[in-house]
Amino acid sequence: MSNKMWGGRFGEGPDRIMEEINASIGFDQRFFAQDIRGSKAHAAMLAEKGIISREDADKIVAGLDTVLAEIEGGHFEFRRELEDIHMNVESRLADLIGAAAGRLHTARSRNDQVATDFKLYIRDTIDHLDGQLRDFQLALVARAEEHADTIMPGFTHLQTAQPVTFGHHCLAYVEMAGRDRGRLADARKRLNECPLGSAALAGTSFAIDREMTAKALDFDAPTRNSLDSVSDRDFVLETLAAASIAATHLTRLAEEIVIWSTPGFDFIKLPDSFTTGSSIMPQKRNPDAAELVRAKAGRVIGALTSLLVVMKGLPLAYSKDMQEDKEAAFDALDALSLSLAAMTGMVKTLTVNEKAMRGAASRGFSTATDLADWLVRSLNLPFRQAHHVTGSLVAMAERKGCDLDGLSLDDMREVEPGITDEVYSVLGVDNSVASRTSYGGTAPGNVRDAASRWRDRLGKAGQ
Ligand code: ARG
Repeated sequence: MSNKMWGGRFGEGPDRIMEEINASIGFDQRFFAQDIRGSKAHAAMLAEKGIISREDADKIVAGLDTVLAEIEGGHFEFRRELEDIHMNVESRLADLIGAAAGRLHTARSRNDQVATDFKLYIRDTIDHLDGQLRDFQLALVARAEEHADTIMPGFTHLQTAQPVTFGHHCLAYVEMAGRDRGRLADARKRLNECPLGSAALAGTSFAIDREMTAKALDFDAPTRNSLDSVSDRDFVLETLAAASIAATHLTRLAEEIVIWSTPGFDFIKLPDSFTTGSSIMPQKRNPDAAELVRAKAGRVIGALTSLLVVMKGLPLAYSKDMQEDKEAAFDALDALSLSLAAMTGMVKTLTVNEKAMRGAASRGFSTATDLADWLVRSLNLPFRQAHHVTGSLVAMAERKGCDLDGLSLDDMREVEPGITDEVYSVLGVDNSVASRTSYGGTAPGNVRDAASRWRDRLGKAGQ
């Protein structure tokens, strides 16, 4: 049998394989609510403009509400021969209300319909992700407040560099998540123009009111060019690009959690609720959630790449290629959402081993820069010379098997006769972090101020 929605000129139905490759209902059923919302707005506008009767519009809207309830209640039968969510909904509407259903598709096409639905879906998803990113930030800010004074080694090249505070480290991720939210908000702002009414590609000869549908669907305005409207998927690309960066940020913290929780580091302990055991090694406590967050970024980045490749070289306007915009995007945004939930859970529940962090910060000559700075400040050495002197002192300490503050004054004077015992005041990790008061530095006071600024900001509506 030919398709009842568009089969007028067809003598026979599609091959089984044609149906399989063509259908999107398996995945686009996910935005049934957005599809029905768009259709209700369209029907109301058609009635307002006298294009369909008020009576038909009322029937359509009531029927669409029934379809919505059926889908939400889990007793809607999705049919592959009806290809996609748009035709599944319309066909069921026809079962329910009869001929009036056929008037709904006046002055629109599935091309503007799918663009509208997907925009609505992406917009909802952005709002959800934004809330999750905010929760993630709040969890980090709480740990930063708690650990403004907790000293840990700061690394560059994963080699001990200078002591920092754990609170400062947590706030670094708050900044990243803040930029992620900014990128998503930016994508949201740009996507918020309504394609509905662009019809297949050229607009329509019916006297529709695109402002009205745009407004009803909470868009800022209608899109301005019908060809662009039905062939634009920038809003998905931008969201996936922002999502890729966010997912990448999460992998960095995930990796740190993996490293910090190894017995070699022992900086943190994940709770039972966020670890798994090994089936063979009874002592194991594996950070699987962190590892999976690290891995799931692959899906997000993959989805961005996949859609870029789908869109590349597509002539205007709509091509069926664009149906391939959905599955990877759904999968990617789900993966990011789950990763955020897992990371927030881990941040909230991990236990900090302050002793181990502090011990590691005190080893590895982490205050060598403080020593060099002291030589500059107190002995007026040029920084390069101070760097050299400090290097010799580090080598000496290494030979003696002690840390910098384990060297005697005599030892130090062998290298630089001007050194006084005032130098010891800068060799401790507490002094080191306390001295880093430059704007954005790691000093505990800075961390407390920064955390409280974030708390204020995150407490405000929409922040
Ligand atoms: N299922 C289609 C999609 O997701 C809807 C648009 C179909 N348009 C068409 N001209 N066949 O892209």
